[in-house]
Amino acid sequence: MAIQKVMIVGAGQMGSGIAQVCAQAGFDVKLNDMQEEFFQRGIGVITKNLQRDVEKGRKSEAEKEEILQRISMSLDLKDATDADLVIEAATENMDIKQSIFKELDRIAPSHAILATNTSSLPITEIAAVTKRPEKVIGMHFMNPVPVMKLVEIIRGLATTDEVYETVENMTHKLSKTPVEVNDFPGFISNRILLPMINEAIYALYEGVASKEAIDDVMKLGMNHPMGPLTLADFIGLDTCLSIMEILHDGLGDSKYRPCPLLRKYVAAGWLGRKTGRGFYIYE
Ligand code: CAA
Repeated sequence: MAIQKVMIVGAGQMGSGIAQVCAQAGFDVKLNDMQEEFFQRGIGVITKNLQRDVEKGRKSEAEKEEILQRISMSLDLKDATDADLVIEAATENMDIKQSIFKELDRIAPSHAILATNTSSLPITEIAAVTKRPEKVIGMHFMNPVPVMKLVEIIRGLATTDEVYETVENMTHKLSKTPVEVNDFPGFISNRILLPMINEAIYALYEGVASKEAIDDVMKLGMNHPMGPLTLADFIGLDTCLSIMEILHDGLGDSKYRPCPLLRKYVAAGWLGRKTGRGFYIYE
């Protein structure tokens, strides 16, 4: 099946990044959010990213304008009536996602694939509220989307091979590398990344080393671009906690218990970069 028209639901950090890479690859993109100001914020980030590419000589001014023109504003899910693919990147909450998928299932054409960018909610449970679970799939992009090469593609229990292959092809067109994963808690990325981050938080909690030392060990010793505590702040400590809880509940193994220090920071509202304070303080 050929994809041409894509709708992205949610114009936040992930949604706007996904809209940018889709428009760069030549797709017509509707970027949907509930309020115009959220769309404007998203398009503002995209414009800034493209402007940096122009300044660095990677794109011409005309290419930047063409990409921006491929992205139109949508403030109503009803705009999905002509979509071939919808990628949902709304809040990480099962009730919200299920209500969006229910509505999209009613509105989108019968051939349309409904994808979710969820980082850890079960695809099968989201698919179950639709009448087309075979066309529901996970497309998990990494942050920052324009930079990171991976898209983790998650098959729900009912996802067909044809739908998987269409999404895999689409991912190649976005100049990203698809990796096939089945629907289990945390998929692969967060099943491995988050316990590593949680362990780094335990090391801090137990006084094994300072936060700077923990980050330096992983940066300089293992060549990670960011230390685990810096990365936790970048992802958002609330997101880290919620993924650990999903791993703990879904896999039932105490090795996934969230560190009490992580819980304490989240309770304090120290959520990382987005609130100006997490393990580090941001100006
Ligand atoms: N949007 C677009 N481009 C960005 C960007 C953003 N938010 N942040 C950085 N970049 C670009 C910069 O413009 C720069 O490009 P050029 O050099 O070509 O101009 C390039 O990325 C490198 O940036 P910097 O020089 O500013 O900084 P850096 O070398 O430290 O790289 C980084 C920044 C790419 C974020 C790097 O630190 C990194 O890879 N960090 C780890 C990121 C990571 O692990 N992401 C996955 C998080 S987990 C996740 O997303 C899944 C989940 O479910 C939780």
